[in-house]
Amino acid sequence: MFPIAEMCADDYDEVLALWQRCEGVGLSPSDSQEGVCSFLLRNPGLSLVARQDDRIVGAVLCGHDGRRGYLYHLAVAAEWRRRGLGQALVEACLTRLAAAGIPKATIVVYTHNQDGQRFWSRLGWKQRADLVVLQQLPVQHPDAKG
Ligand SMILES: CC(C)(COP(=O)(O)OP(=O)(O)OC[C@H]1O[C@@H](n2cnc3c(N)ncnc32)[C@H](O)[C@@H]1OP(=O)(O)O)[C@@H](O)C(=O)NCCC(=O)NCCS
Repeated sequence: MFPIAEMCADDYDEVLALWQRCEGVGLSPSDSQEGVCSFLLRNPGLSLVARQDDRIVGAVLCGHDGRRGYLYHLAVAAEWRRRGLGQALVEACLTRLAAAGIPKATIVVYTHNQDGQRFWSRLGWKQRADLVVLQQLPVQHPDAKG
């Protein structure tokens, strides 16, 4: 019903516009055109878009580090939600990860994104109560100006 295709560099502007419209998707400098295209190059054939009438209505970034898979920025346009598209995108990513020999995947969801958490839990994903997410904040290079 929704053709799902591999995301390519040319999809960037439309995908970014979709992410910007979706609450629950947190954008950072890594989501610049250069950042996303670099991610696509490092993880060929894993990130996906879904189209309706030639418009991108769903998107997800997917990659792996040789050990675990990671999904980022799953988003479905508001008017196309609750029709199974989010689930179809996730399943297509997991199939592709499995074909690459990666049996497990992780996502990070904002604590305030209750709808997002309900979606993942409905798909059978479990919250790890024994883990917290830690992140190194960007360190400014001593020679950097400003
Ligand atoms: C989360 C999101 C991707 C779900 O996309 P979707 O296409 O609507 O999801 P699906 O139709 O495949 O939903 C599958 C099941 O998940 C559950 N679900 C989906 N959205 C839900 C919501 N808002 N509240 C509660 N359960 C929800 C339902 O059980 C649904 O099945 P049902 O409609 O038969 O009851 C979409 O709501 C979205 O883009 N949200 C904004 C961005 C976001 O939060 N992304 C997740 C970041 S981690």
